[in-house]
Amino acid sequence: MTDLTFPAGFRWGTATAAYQIEGAADEDGRTPSIWDTFSRTPGRVRNGDTGDIAADHYHRMGEDVALMKDLGVTDYRFSVAWPRVQPTGRGPAVRKGLDFYRRLTDELLSADIRPVVTLYHWDLPQELEDAGGWPHRDTADRFAEYAGLVADALGDRVTTWTTLNEPWCAAFLGYASGVHAPGRTDAVASLRAAHHLNLAHGRAVQALRAALPPSAEVSLTLNLHAVRPLSDSAEDRDAARRVDALGNRIFLDPVFHGRLPGDLVEDTAALTDWSFVRDGDLEVTAAPLDSLGINYYSPTVVAAGSSPAPSPWPGAEPHVRFVPAPGPRTAMDWPVDPDGLYELLTRLRDELPEVPLMVTENGAAYDDYADPSGEVHDPERVAYLRGHLAAVHRALADGVDVRGYFLWSLLDNFEWAYGYGKRFGIVHVDFASQRRTPKDSARWYADVIARGGLRG
Ligand code: NOJ
Repeated sequence: MTDLTFPAGFRWGTATAAYQIEGAADEDGRTPSIWDTFSRTPGRVRNGDTGDIAADHYHRMGEDVALMKDLGVTDYRFSVAWPRVQPTGRGPAVRKGLDFYRRLTDELLSADIRPVVTLYHWDLPQELEDAGGWPHRDTADRFAEYAGLVADALGDRVTTWTTLNEPWCAAFLGYASGVHAPGRTDAVASLRAAHHLNLAHGRAVQALRAALPPSAEVSLTLNLHAVRPLSDSAEDRDAARRVDALGNRIFLDPVFHGRLPGDLVEDTAALTDWSFVRDGDLEVTAAPLDSLGINYYSPTVVAAGSSPAPSPWPGAEPHVRFVPAPGPRTAMDWPVDPDGLYELLTRLRDELPEVPLMVTENGAAYDDYADPSGEVHDPERVAYLRGHLAAVHRALADGVDVRGYFLWSLLDNFEWAYGYGKRFGIVHVDFASQRRTPKDSARWYADVIARGGLRG
């Protein structure tokens, strides 16, 4: 086999999110986000786990940056905790909250690692949820104001900015199926949330452009669904179309084309007339971007049929059945299928040829443990990562403009409703002692970065 070499300047990163690693939930003026409230509600998160301490990154940031320096990553994608910076979601910024991110970015830059900031990775200040949350239009304006505060504080040292992480999850897991914070099960609210997240994104792009130098790169990260119909029947293909509308085009169309997907509006007509989309909104959502981030883990196979309520697919429940895809599975029970990533990347090349892409998340959970000598052997993760990087390489060879790859995740962390039971890190965290141990996959990734690709 020949080596798979990536282009010079390819960005090799790792990714994390504030609530999943920081801990220090009540320190330096931080107030609860919807995830604090949700995780402290019995029955919401497995084992009653919360992000109160998490990987204690707030106090161990120096050690974690040093780990990344050892890996040789060129970039680090992290998120800013809104309730640390602007605890009530309104008013001036809290200096201590911003100082943490100033120190983090300084530490990264002195380790020669480019900071990639995500402004929203699901930790909405609880006060804004109490005022209506994402289904409420004002939340979009609040987000743009917060984006401006962070840009003013970090704009001199951060060049790559992402507004939202996976707004699909924020809208539909948060407000439709309710398995994520704030745990609501209201189909109409979830569609309103999706629109207001798009609007928040567009308004934040405007705020960022106003505050940052023209060289700043502004992006959005979506968890696009690699949707496949189970068969070629018209019914199965229609099920796939519905999921593509609700899972992908609900964001891609407003953001890149300034329109709502017509079939989505028809499919959801029994739920809403979409009058919450006001004149001019779709110009705002379509503010030009410098790149698009894609998070990919596994494909989605659908057939005609029905899904149990409450589902994260408002309006699609009576028409769509989700079918387990074949193949090996990770500890999340997600199928391992690198072709799905290739499919998504080539589709975006065809549909948005002008937009550079970044894989902003990809990785896998396995039941890792430290052996008696303290080592963590995770050959399945290495195989998963290798397969997906090979898919990225194949897409590059086919002319897709992929600029970077961010491995999820640097550290084992709080995996949302699954708590600490699911380990995605390439660095093992013993949560009792907070000891970090690079897994075999960390050494493997360091080698990939050092050689600029995969060994044949
Ligand atoms: C996507 C999310 O952005 C991240 O927070 C999560 O931990 C991973 N997927 C794995 O589920």
